[in-house]
Amino acid sequence: MKKLSIKINVFALILISIALVSCGKKKESTAFTIGFSQCNSAEPWREAMNKELLAEAAKYPDIDVVISDAQQDNSKQVADVENFIVQEIDLLIISPNEAQPLTRVVEKAFEKGIPVIVLDRKVHTDKFTTFIGADNIKIGLAAGEFAAKLLNGKGKILEIWGLKGSTPAMERDKGFKEGIANYPDIEVIYEQDGAWLRRKGIEIMENALQRYDQIDLVYAHNDPMAIGAYLAAKNANRLDNTFFIGIDGLSGAEGGVQAVQNKQLNATFIYPTGGKEAIDAAKKILSGRKVDKNIMLNTKTIDITNAGDFK
Ligand code: FRU
Repeated sequence: MKKLSIKINVFALILISIALVSCGKKKESTAFTIGFSQCNSAEPWREAMNKELLAEAAKYPDIDVVISDAQQDNSKQVADVENFIVQEIDLLIISPNEAQPLTRVVEKAFEKGIPVIVLDRKVHTDKFTTFIGADNIKIGLAAGEFAAKLLNGKGKILEIWGLKGSTPAMERDKGFKEGIANYPDIEVIYEQDGAWLRRKGIEIMENALQRYDQIDLVYAHNDPMAIGAYLAAKNANRLDNTFFIGIDGLSGAEGGVQAVQNKQLNATFIYPTGGKEAIDAAKKILSGRKVDKNIMLNTKTIDITNAGDFK
């Protein structure tokens, strides 16, 4: 009887050892888990980003991507990242809703040894591995210069901001104002936070139309808000001689490129999502290679002369 139980114990030990060894092996060869903390999957540009990122990741069998959607809520996004930290993900990609509220948790992940890729919107720290995005000051500047040309150096502008606490909004404003700075007869008469949302673009334009007899140009920090403003003006029979400028330049039926072709927008500026580049960088980091601290993506002005090339 005793002999039998010793035998069983030895057998159990062997089984446990095999299980442990194969677990260890499994860990070596299994997928890396990338947690992607997205600030709001509901916007068209972010849907495109998710799609691009997942399509790129699908090329690599050793990469699993888990996306969390903060639905434009800073505290939810902090909790999402905290969760990823607890789950011991291998790498974090984050597109932060607003800079300040997300800074600490990005630092926390980085301090725990998790490589961090900050995508498109910035945080106020340099405790991350790499930042990937286009230069929003440059885009704003190009938009300002384009506006000055459309207006022939004179006119009243409505500026519809993206979420004020997000860095692309701050930078798109800064660049734009530099772009129009040399034109004393160009004036931003009204500016409001549209939180990147088309429905807010509509509301802000409705308010602006009530306050002002003439708005010569609407500069919105993204295409959905610019298109919203256009629709509000059209609805109120107040298209007057107003120009509309947006940013993103998504292709597809609802995108900015089509809106330029439809003559709703006078221009848009391509703002690449960086989904592919994020996975490229993640692959490098996970295999121990170095990546640049800043990976800059290119932009392009789209107007009626070249919109056909971008469909
Ligand atoms: C989507 C979006 C884009 C914009 C980007 C800036 O959330 O608003 O339209 O270009 O974020 O971060």
